[in-house]
Amino acid sequence: MARFTVMILAVVLAFLVAMPVPGVTAKKYTVGDNKFWNPNINYTIWAQGKHFYLGDWLYFVYDRNQHNILEVNKTDYENCNAEHPIRNYTRGAGRDIVPLNVTKHYYLLDGKGGCYGGMKLAVKVEKLPPPPKAAPVKSIGSVSMVTSLVQFIIPFALLRMTW
Ligand SMILES: *[C@@H]1O[C@H](CO)[C@@H](O)[C@H](O)[C@H]1NC(C)=O
Ligand SMILES: *[C@@H]1O[C@H](CO)[C@@H](O)[C@H](O)[C@H]1NC(C)=O
Ligand SMILES: *[C@@H]1O[C@H](CO)[C@@H](O)[C@H](O)[C@H]1NC(C)=O
Ligand SMILES: *[C@@H]1O[C@H](CO)[C@@H](O)[C@H](O)[C@H]1NC(C)=O
Repeated sequence: MARFTVMILAVVLAFLVAMPVPGVTAKKYTVGDNKFWNPNINYTIWAQGKHFYLGDWLYFVYDRNQHNILEVNKTDYENCNAEHPIRNYTRGAGRDIVPLNVTKHYYLLDGKGGCYGGMKLAVKVEKLPPPPKAAPVKSIGSVSMVTSLVQFIIPFALLRMTW
C-alpha cells in the first residue's frame, strides 16, 4: 500500500516537473517600495533596472495632505512645472493607481510641492515581449530529453528508496 502511495507521489511529481512555465502577467509596482511616494528618494534610481510593460501598474502611497500625483509632459517634468498636467491621477485617499496602458514615456510628479524633495518619476512603458519563439528542434530535443530523464529518474529513485 505504501509503495502504491509512493508511486502516485512520483507520478504527481513527474507531472509537476513537466508542467509548462506559466505566462508572464501584469505587475503592480509600489513606487518607492517600502518608502512609498515621499521626499528625498531618488525615483530615477528606484526605476533603474526595472522594465515596465504595457498592462503593468504603478501604485502610489503617500500622505494625501502633502502630495499628489500628476502626469506632465517632458518639458514640464524637467522643470518640475505642475501648471499644465496632462492627467491628474489623484483621487484623494493618498492611494493612487497609474495604469501603464499606453506604450510611451510617463512623466509623473508631485504637483503639490513641484517635485518636492525630488518627487518625480519617469518610466518608459514597453510592449510586452513576445513569448519565446519555438526553439530550434535540436534544443527542443535536449530539453525534452532532460525532462524525460527527470521524469524517469525521480520515480525510480523514489521507488528504490522504499524497496
Ligand atoms: C538621481 O539619480 C540619478 C542617477 O544616478 C542622477 O542622475 C540624478 O541627478 C539624481 N537626482 C537627484 C535629485 O539627486
Ligand atoms: C509641454 O507643455 C508646455 C506647456 O503647455 C509646452 O510649452 C511645452 O512645449 C510642452 N513640451 C512638450 C515636449 O510637449
Ligand atoms: C486632481 O483631482 C483631485 C480629485 O478629484 C482634486 O481634488 C485635485 O484638485 C486635482 N488636482 C489638480 C492639480 O487638478
Ligand atoms: C488608460 O487608463 C486611464 C486611467 O484609468 C484611462 O482613463 C484611459 O482611458 C486608458 N487608456 C487606454 C488607451 O486604455
